[in-house]
Amino acid sequence: MQFPILIVGLFFFIGSGYGNDDFQDEKIHFEKSLYTVNDLFDTTNINDVIVKVKAVSSSSPVTYEITSGNLENSFRINNETGEIFVNEFIDYSKFQQYNLTVTAYDDADSDYTTVQIFLKEYYPSSVTIEAGKEYYDCLVQFQTSKTKNKSNETFEIINEIQKAIFTIDNHGCLILKEPIYQDPESGKLSWNLRIVHTVHHSAGISTEMSLLEVNVIVPNENGPFLSKQTIYWDEKQNAGVIIKLSAIDSQSPGPFNYEIDNDEVDAKTKESFDIVDYDDLYATVTFNHAEQSQYKIPIIITDIVDPSRRGKSYLFVEINQVEDDQDHDDFWLSTE
Ligand SMILES: *[C@@H]1O[C@H](CO)[C@@H](O)[C@H](O)[C@H]1NC(C)=O
Ligand SMILES: *[C@@H]1O[C@H](CO)[C@@H](O)[C@H](O)[C@H]1NC(C)=O
Ligand SMILES: *[C@@H]1O[C@H](CO)[C@@H](O)[C@H](O)[C@H]1NC(C)=O
Ligand SMILES: *[C@@H]1O[C@H](CO)[C@@H](O)[C@H](O)[C@H]1NC(C)=O
Repeated sequence: MQFPILIVGLFFFIGSGYGNDDFQDEKIHFEKSLYTVNDLFDTTNINDVIVKVKAVSSSSPVTYEITSGNLENSFRINNETGEIFVNEFIDYSKFQQYNLTVTAYDDADSDYTTVQIFLKEYYPSSVTIEAGKEYYDCLVQFQTSKTKNKSNETFEIINEIQKAIFTIDNHGCLILKEPIYQDPESGKLSWNLRIVHTVHHSAGISTEMSLLEVNVIVPNENGPFLSKQTIYWDEKQNAGVIIKLSAIDSQSPGPFNYEIDNDEVDAKTKESFDIVDYDDLYATVTFNHAEQSQYKIPIIITDIVDPSRRGKSYLFVEINQVEDDQDHDDFWLSTE
């Protein structure tokens, strides 16, 4: 593990509504006169359920309402199920505690209960990674529950854009899929990941939300460098564009111009690759994995607008082996 961090999240519990409604001729009443939610992190998402209250009535359906204590409408209740949700962003610096009064009604009568909610300030954990670098280990190992049956436990990254870049498995191992430079949404050199950990117990579901700050440092202050330094290309295919090159520079957003360094490149590599249209890396030949499986291309990168920003990187092209039976021209007949 590169950055083992203990993530302690909030753990709250949604009761599954056990209990029996067999209270003949009793007035409506709550099962508990006090519900307590401890350590509710102030980063909890809107619409997350934090607790479920329950009242029983022998005569008619029960309706719930929050009747006091709901400062700035921070919470709301489902009037049929008694589930209480976060309704607005909660902020520890504003309120550290809420005392909600929840009233339940049936056709004849009503009862009330108190829901005490204690907030906790969230200090995000963070991890620092280098721009453009590949990571094979878990960036962070999140803590799993004590549940024996792992198939009932999931970790999920909420943000769709982040899901393209990070992935997390059911054992809580957060993986960086591809080297990164900056958050494409914000353009910043840091990411805020919200990760939801859900555990299905026999008695209900617990959810835990963790926030992780991923900071990206740009290691090379000397000029632009290639954002991807290893690429793959199948043998036996025709000449063509392999990839659009892209570069990273701590002090310039680009655009950049790319050229193969003729002083350094070996002859075989030089005749096999070209760069066209500023940034398209082009295979000029058909490769044979058995003959040579890797090429190292020295590339000079220049900022088009600011020529003082100039750097050099090595691009490794790995030639993939392709099975012979894919060699036929059958694809002309395929219906794809
Ligand atoms: C319960 O909530 C629903 C949806 O918000 C609303 O349509 C309905 O009128 C409410 N019922 C009562 C009895 O307040
Ligand atoms: C909630 O109630 C407790 C006593 O039960 C009290 O000490 C506290 O100040 C109350 N908090 C708010 C926000 O009303
Ligand atoms: C684990 O959970 C899955 C899905 O809920 C279930 O199919 C499986 O039988 C469980 N295994 C054990 C050992 O309880
Ligand atoms: C796993 O979840 C299923 C429902 O999704 C539940 O029936 C089962 O009891 C759970 N197993 C454990 C070990 O909690």
